[in-house]
Amino acid sequence: MQGKVGVGIMGCGNIVGQYIAGCRQFEILEIAACADIDAGKAANTAVEHGIPRALTPAELLVDPGVDIVINLTIPAVHAEVSLAALRAGKHVYSEKPLATNTADGRALLAAAAERGLLVGCAPDTFLGGGLQTCRKLIDDGWIGEPVAATAFMMSGGPEPWHPNPAFFYLAGAGPLFDMAPYYLTALVNLLGPVGRVTAAARISFSERIATSAARFGERLPVETPTHVAGLLEFAAGPVGTLITSFDIKGGSNLPRIEIYGSAGTVSVPDPNTFGGPVRLRRTGAAEWSDVPLLFSDQVGRGIGVADLAYALRDGRAPRAGGDLAFHVLEAMESLLLAAEQGTHITLQSSPARPAPLPLGLLPGRLEP
Ligand SMILES: NC(=O)c1ccc[n+]([C@@H]2O[C@H](COP(=O)([O-])OP(=O)(O)OC[C@H]3O[C@@H](n4cnc5c(N)ncnc54)[C@H](O)[C@@H]3O)[C@@H](O)[C@H]2O)c1
Repeated sequence: MQGKVGVGIMGCGNIVGQYIAGCRQFEILEIAACADIDAGKAANTAVEHGIPRALTPAELLVDPGVDIVINLTIPAVHAEVSLAALRAGKHVYSEKPLATNTADGRALLAAAAERGLLVGCAPDTFLGGGLQTCRKLIDDGWIGEPVAATAFMMSGGPEPWHPNPAFFYLAGAGPLFDMAPYYLTALVNLLGPVGRVTAAARISFSERIATSAARFGERLPVETPTHVAGLLEFAAGPVGTLITSFDIKGGSNLPRIEIYGSAGTVSVPDPNTFGGPVRLRRTGAAEWSDVPLLFSDQVGRGIGVADLAYALRDGRAPRAGGDLAFHVLEAMESLLLAAEQGTHITLQSSPARPAPLPLGLLPGRLEP
């Protein structure tokens, strides 16, 4: 495949604008069409952003200008929408999570493999300047041999600000499925796959009260753990601690992610961003050093789609690929199961670390 790769966007909700802007930074991508079960949203998105065709979901799947379907629907239908796209012969890039359970995730990857199609999945924040700089520091030995990691997502929950917060408290969401993809993907990119997990989890409050203007006073039933404290034994040896919570009502001073090595520590930026700050403190140093970013932070959601398009054109594996997303999904599912059963769980999947980005890329390109 040569030239531009056509993409079609399925799901024109809150996040679509970021994807359109992010994709348009890359010369390889051409946004051909958009669709939504709500025809009005697809039409508005097409007009607002100058997309040539607003289509029904069924029409998008057979549009000849679409090589990759970007699945920006809600998590509960990610798997069925991605599967339908694969069955129609399209490559897929999905928002996270890949699916809400590993059975659906496995079926999705099998359907792609059978057809020789590629699957990519968010988050792609690990392709941003902040997390790529951390990867290079670790790979080049600046902290010695990694021995441990901590990752904390300590929040009070989305009900004070989100216009529609109910789904965050239902099965398939919670702080783990909603936010851990950013943290786990960053950790696997830095340290390699997770071998075994265990966890403790609780529902601290049996219902939540929405306080956003749109839903003020609405009671939200809670059916999934809202505080999940997990241990991750990485296959290469490091031990990780991951806490994701919606139950932190008084704030927290904990960092987002730190990686500890035999010769120093790297302080990793918020993995839900593409930028810094990246800080390094080597054994014996009195202070932290601010590390200049070695890769661009002027990218956004869409860099993973561009990488998938290059993968397609050049016949290589995508960095934000389905195997990585499946591993993250398996880790999340296993953390909840381990907490429920009071056991350790060994993961079955063990993807290779995604290739690091090369230095010196020009804006709008992901290859020299
Ligand atoms: N909003 C954010 O800040 C944000 C950030 C990062 C990731 N995400 C992820 O992006 C995805 C979308 O989030 P959002 O906030 O845009 O949600 P949203 O609810 O605003 O939009 C989802 C859209 O998908 C459409 N849709 C639902 N089912 C469909 C189907 N079967 N076929 C076609 N269209 C369908 C809906 O009509 C809606 O317009 C989610 O997976 C979310 O986790 C969102």
